[in-house]
Amino acid sequence: MWRITCQPRKLQTLLSLLCLIIVMGFFTRSFFPSFEVTSYPYSRPSLGPIALLSAISSLKGKYDLEVLKLSLSNKIAYSKHHNYDFFVCNCTVDENWHAMWGKVLALEAILAKGYRWVIFLDLDLLITNFDTRLEEFFLEESFDIIIGVDCNGINDGVVMFRGTESNIQLLRSLWTFTEYSNEYYHEQTALWRTISRNRTIAKRTLLIPPGILQSYQDDSCGSKFGGEDFIIHFPGDFTSRKLANEMKKYMNFATFKDTIEIPKIEGKGCNCKLQE
Ligand SMILES: *[C@@H]1O[C@H](CO)[C@@H](O)[C@H](O)[C@H]1NC(C)=O
Ligand SMILES: *[C@@H]1O[C@H](CO)[C@@H](O)[C@H](O)[C@H]1NC(C)=O
Repeated sequence: MWRITCQPRKLQTLLSLLCLIIVMGFFTRSFFPSFEVTSYPYSRPSLGPIALLSAISSLKGKYDLEVLKLSLSNKIAYSKHHNYDFFVCNCTVDENWHAMWGKVLALEAILAKGYRWVIFLDLDLLITNFDTRLEEFFLEESFDIIIGVDCNGINDGVVMFRGTESNIQLLRSLWTFTEYSNEYYHEQTALWRTISRNRTIAKRTLLIPPGILQSYQDDSCGSKFGGEDFIIHFPGDFTSRKLANEMKKYMNFATFKDTIEIPKIEGKGCNCKLQE
């Protein structure tokens, strides 16, 4: 259990909002009875219990190969360290939808494989503390969705979904938010609206304070990175060159992998490749 200390500093409104969200998250967590999901709808027990994935866009990929290699090497190394499966998905979304929506397709594709938990990681973040195990976050089986909060509500740069049929249904329902097909923050706003407007989903969601699941380079929208933090995320509009340079400051080059197996994709959807 994490302790919450809310200390409004100069960015008062922002922090008050953050505090409110966090307090609400913890209130939800302790107030509602735990929610048992008894049915496990898939029959692929041979798969590892935990899968991680990242997705790239087949058409409008924002980042060059250098960023992809830095980012994916790091995630592959972390996954191997803990014996998690790691998938790289190459996704094509319908032309009316922003490439970010590929995340929803990719998550659904991996959830359908029958993992117990599926964790999505954005390309513009690095795992900086390899000692942190993902199981730490979902030991409490009462939650089905785990996500960090920042000044925009949630930040789905890191998001964990338990392998349940209701989570697959939830992901599918996000496509009804056509107003965010090309508007910020795309699938993230759709997800946040879904969580915050539905008590059943809200009480199955664990909201995690800034700095625990992911940290940023400064305090303006979340928590500034401290040396032991789990993940450094670089949200915002970085060019590939700038992002690669920033990443290298935090990257352990022992983890660098020169060849990454990125699948091709024909037609719509995601092609996801398990990394060996
Ligand atoms: C809330 O979510 C649950 C579970 O996904 C769903 O069955 C229910 O219809 C939703 N309620 C509303 C009001 O949308
Ligand atoms: C993703 O798939 C597309 C379509 O097959 C392909 O052209 C592209 O090179 C792939 N992306 C990467 C980074 O390999």
